[in-house]
Amino acid sequence: MTNVFSVEGLVQSIRLAADKADPEAAIREVLVEVVKNPDAIFAATSGEDGDETMYFEDDKVSIWRCRFQPKIVMPPHEHCLKVLIGVYSGGEKSILYKRTEEGLSEAGSVTAHAGEVITLGKAAIHAVTTKDDNPSDAIHVYLGPLMKLERDLYDWESGKAVAFTLENFEAMKRSVVQ
Ligand SMILES: [Fe+2]
Repeated sequence: MTNVFSVEGLVQSIRLAADKADPEAAIREVLVEVVKNPDAIFAATSGEDGDETMYFEDDKVSIWRCRFQPKIVMPPHEHCLKVLIGVYSGGEKSILYKRTEEGLSEAGSVTAHAGEVITLGKAAIHAVTTKDDNPSDAIHVYLGPLMKLERDLYDWESGKAVAFTLENFEAMKRSVVQ
């Protein structure tokens, strides 16, 4: 990977990494280099609409750009896939949950700061927000076909599984005072 960032280059590098014997380690290496150059990523992606763009998906890997806005918390959800999160601006905070008989119980949080790459496990359930009053910007790489999977959101109060639809996702977003 050179210092000149392009979405095509990112996708190509990650697809190659996904074919290695240890895809997670190889993808992490790619992301660690990519997040060192936030200006180059912003320059290449400034024309994209919205906070999220899907760049690529096949059975091995799904690649997204994800921006989260301050004071908004995305509802608890699962991916059913391991995900690597490489943050290049701001900080992306995941509030982690475990499923219990009664519903969901909070199980700590993890924040990926600009320049960091973190991994969330296949069974992780998280709600997502920013670490402070600035948006966060990251590349998310899921180790499988994210959009093909049936996965769930979880009701904030009851912890009951709710179908992962765009309507439900939007309706369950929360605003917070930070
Ligand atoms: Fe997520």
